[in-house]
Amino acid sequence: MSDKHYTLTDPESGSVLELKRYDPTIGPSVLDVTKLYGSQGVFTYDPGFAATACCTSDVTYIDGEKGVLLYRGYPIEQLAEKSTYIEVCYLLLHGELPNKTELANFEESIRTHTMINESLLRFFNGFHYDAHPMAMMSGVVGSMSAFYHDSTDIHNPEHRDIVAHRLIAKIPTIAAAAYKHTLGQPFVYPANDLDYCGNLLSMFFAVPAEEYEVDRVAAEAIDLLFILHADHEQNCSTSTVRMAGSSGTSPYSAIAAGISALWGPAHGGANEAVINMLEKVGSVDHINEYVARAKDKDDPFRLMGFGHRVYKSYDPRAAIIRKMCHKVLEGLGQQDNPLFELALRLEEIALKDEYFIEKNLYPNVDFYSGIIYQALGIPKSMFTVMFAIARCVGWVTHWCEMVADPTSRIGRPRQLYTGPTERDYVSLKDRG
Ligand code: SDX
Repeated sequence: MSDKHYTLTDPESGSVLELKRYDPTIGPSVLDVTKLYGSQGVFTYDPGFAATACCTSDVTYIDGEKGVLLYRGYPIEQLAEKSTYIEVCYLLLHGELPNKTELANFEESIRTHTMINESLLRFFNGFHYDAHPMAMMSGVVGSMSAFYHDSTDIHNPEHRDIVAHRLIAKIPTIAAAAYKHTLGQPFVYPANDLDYCGNLLSMFFAVPAEEYEVDRVAAEAIDLLFILHADHEQNCSTSTVRMAGSSGTSPYSAIAAGISALWGPAHGGANEAVINMLEKVGSVDHINEYVARAKDKDDPFRLMGFGHRVYKSYDPRAAIIRKMCHKVLEGLGQQDNPLFELALRLEEIALKDEYFIEKNLYPNVDFYSGIIYQALGIPKSMFTVMFAIARCVGWVTHWCEMVADPTSRIGRPRQLYTGPTERDYVSLKDRG
């Protein structure tokens, strides 16, 4: 923390306030406004928190101008090429890449926590078969607090570790149970002889009537997508987890709040919305019509999978996923996938358009991911569930970081009040 500061002068009273400036390891500095209201009687105003740092964090760094994404200092491109999702989970949680023993012990711990309480399985019978899987996810993950509430002291680091392992291990099992419920198929138990993504595919697609063999092309594709979706600084759902967790509530309830926030089409729900959009556009001939609609202020239509609060350049994850599409589609014999062709043309046309250039609107992580999930036989309604499985490690890492921080306080923003001034109650008989 530097001793540099900014000065602020009240235009009426002329009183001056020094705002301390804190400098990061990399990225923008911040101004400490914690004394602002006490000294000047004013709040800062930043709807959507576009210019507000809500915490200090060592986990993930994003440079939106340069398209840089680092997990604990490691560039996403290197992790995507050389790491595995389980290793990235360890890195995010512990801050360092594991050695062989640490990785083997971590992988073993995750593998042996994958089953869920049988009573949790019965929750799914309460949902109609056509319930959206994200609704089931937030309900059932939140219900984990009912099973572990009494045995979880959030201020005990070992308990926080168990929470993290349980969530990372069980969220694919809960996701698979939700998917099987929509199909009316029997739940498939986790298999400890399979790796993380192989186990997920088995729980999704195996049926009791026949042997199931994991498609390694599919497992590796999912592993890579999970690395890319694992964490992303203080995004909407992670900030929701921090806000909910700041009251000291059960971590399972805080993660359930994050799942609910992720579901929105402006956030993780965009991967499902992109495929719906591409299917609506239908063919290259209609692209210009939809690009024109996306630019029309009076038209609520937006190009889903485009634009980002932080990236004002190409989302590095989208670039990796687009490259991956070619390889995975070829590996699955779907090299002429019409939706992928359409997405590529849409990107090409949009990125040449003045509106998108001027507003720095590029494809984000959600633009191409759904094409791979669909090619793997995963239905649209499960796309955001896949995002939630991957992001769970980011959520629980930030929750742990917040709870372990002795300076963290309950989140409680203020407002610019624009409602009525004080007035007296009017009884019913005297109202018009
Ligand atoms: C994720 O934060 C994260 O890190 C999120 C995420 C993660 O890993 O956690 O990266 C994952 O959520 C990716 C984003 C997925 N969402 C979408 O693809 C939905 C479509 N995109 C948008 O709705 C929008 O771009 C957001 C929500 C992503 C960002 O919204 P902002 O930062 O509030 O930007 P904005 O809505 O103020 O847009 C700025 C301008 C506006 O025009 P003006 O009012 O300035 O004239 O750009 C326009 C917008 O109308 N614009 C778009 C557009 N996105 C923004 N116009 C057309 N199509 C779009 N997609």
